[in-house]
Amino acid sequence: MVILVIVAIQFYRPARTNPPVDPQNTIQSQTHIPLEVSRVLYRSCGDCHSNQTLWPWYSEVAPVSWLVVSDVDEGRGKVNLSDWTPQGGNQSEKANRLLGKICEEVKSGDMPEWYYTPLHPNARLSPAEIQLICNWTQSEQQGSGTAPKKDSDK
Ligand code: HEC
Repeated sequence: MVILVIVAIQFYRPARTNPPVDPQNTIQSQTHIPLEVSRVLYRSCGDCHSNQTLWPWYSEVAPVSWLVVSDVDEGRGKVNLSDWTPQGGNQSEKANRLLGKICEEVKSGDMPEWYYTPLHPNARLSPAEIQLICNWTQSEQQGSGTAPKKDSDK
């Protein structure tokens, strides 16, 4: 019976998408993020907060797949390194709030998610990396990061 249920649920397969990336909209294009900071963010956060998710094998197996897909959908909805524009882009108030949250989440250790790091030890952040992220979010908030405005933002 249990086996039947496990087999049956495999047929419900929520889509594992990697939507296309517009290079103009990435956090690298929209902010003045230094290369080493964007590398750290993509490494540690990119699976849930970018459109370049590396889907692990267990994301194929229900019911874990349902959790993984919903996490990535939710994560992308909050912060998307591949598409920074809906989160604010140059509209500074919204972007600034999000930058503050990024620093808060890594400082408090709430991100990356605790259940993710045992399987992705490489996503763990060192104290120096956390400092690096917060130094950047702060300088970006203070406006040393006004990325060139696109026509659509004017
Ligand atoms: C395993 C997936 C996963 C990873 C890895 C991950 N996140 Fe998240 N993140 C989520 C999910 C799911 C949410 C939405 C639910 C929540 O707020 O906890 C979220 C929410 C957030 C939020 C919004 C919080 C709020 O209150 O609005 C921020 C900021 C954030 N993450 C930053 C990061 C940063 C920075 C990293 C890397 C250092 C990271 N996350 C790594 C899944 C992830």
